[in-house]
Amino acid sequence: MLRAFIFDMDGVLVDSEDISMQVGIAYFASIGVKAVRDDFRSSLGKGERGFFDGAAAELGVKEPYSYDEASAFFRSRYPEMIKGVSIALPGAVSIVKKARECGILTAVASSAPAWKVRANIAAAGLSESDFNFIASGEDIIRNKPEKDIYELAMIKLGVGSSEAVIFEDSAAGIESGKRAGCRVVALMTTIDGESAAAAGADAVVTDLSVLSNFSSAEEAERMIEEVSSSEASGAVRYGANLVVPLSRKMPWSFTEKRAVEAARKAMENAYAPYSGFRVGAAVVSAATGRIYAGCNVENSSYGAAICAERNAITTAVANEGVFGLDLLVVFSEDDPPAPPCALCLQVAAEFARPESAVLLVSADGKTRRHTFSELLPMPFIFPTMR
Ligand code: THU
Repeated sequence: MLRAFIFDMDGVLVDSEDISMQVGIAYFASIGVKAVRDDFRSSLGKGERGFFDGAAAELGVKEPYSYDEASAFFRSRYPEMIKGVSIALPGAVSIVKKARECGILTAVASSAPAWKVRANIAAAGLSESDFNFIASGEDIIRNKPEKDIYELAMIKLGVGSSEAVIFEDSAAGIESGKRAGCRVVALMTTIDGESAAAAGADAVVTDLSVLSNFSSAEEAERMIEEVSSSEASGAVRYGANLVVPLSRKMPWSFTEKRAVEAARKAMENAYAPYSGFRVGAAVVSAATGRIYAGCNVENSSYGAAICAERNAITTAVANEGVFGLDLLVVFSEDDPPAPPCALCLQVAAEFARPESAVLLVSADGKTRRHTFSELLPMPFIFPTMR
């Protein structure tokens, strides 16, 4: 049974890299050195010492740089510079609030010092009382990938390892959570899907927003089970030439409902003054579970019309780059519900798998379900892409 969510901080609930670089720039300015964000980029994620020493090396500064002074400056200025800045990652606030409403216990388990964890919680738009327990790097001696911080959190929450789900974004953090015996959901905020799976993650999602749409602990548990039990880890081939990092998805029941709603809403925006035939489409990304919608857009030069499906597909590609199509919904006022035209099927073939689902829905609720290969058994695939 699911009783607790334990969150790592940086890369899971918040992204504090930018604010850290701003404080770093202010420190170097205080010793008369002009630094820019790029001077810190290769030092990120290497701890505070690495962060400052690395930037000083990059800048070629020796005197009067001192790590101890830089560290003291950071500590005194970070909490004030972060005030009024929002550093919450997508879904962070809603998953914590929803968990609390549903009686799921919440904890933070971060290797950062306690003062920084507190400042970050506030800058995420959360408060310390949103968590039943907050563990910082000061509470443990052995850092991740040791299991200590997660065991401490579980003891404080009074839950067993089968009752806790951990959210992590680094290989060391994932390993730590697995050593503690918990289920670990990895977020692709700072790690790619394959590395997360290799580190032992039970499920990989882009960010917390994918999992923040539940209204009971049972529903949250079902969502996590379904993302965990979907296809085996590793790259999956979609369409002609695309390898999508992971085929992980939200439970179909949620995904389908949301995608149909997105397609219906998109249909309201159809620009169809010539045909009067309004179409909405939505595609679900295989790697992220995200939904992209489109409507048909006609033109005085009739042949320039763009179908709803291609509108949705191109939007998905523009947003994700590497895109694998797991579900296509076509929403129309037609009866029976209209299928995608052959041109759109050929475009979709570039991104879909033969077993990708196509859901045709009409305004009066009629639904037809097909696989992609039923609608286009023989797509053209460029010889070098086969
Ligand atoms: N249309 C779509 O958007 N999707 C389809 O699957 C079939 C046709 C649009 C194109 C045009 O704007 C109108 O419907 C009539 O063909």
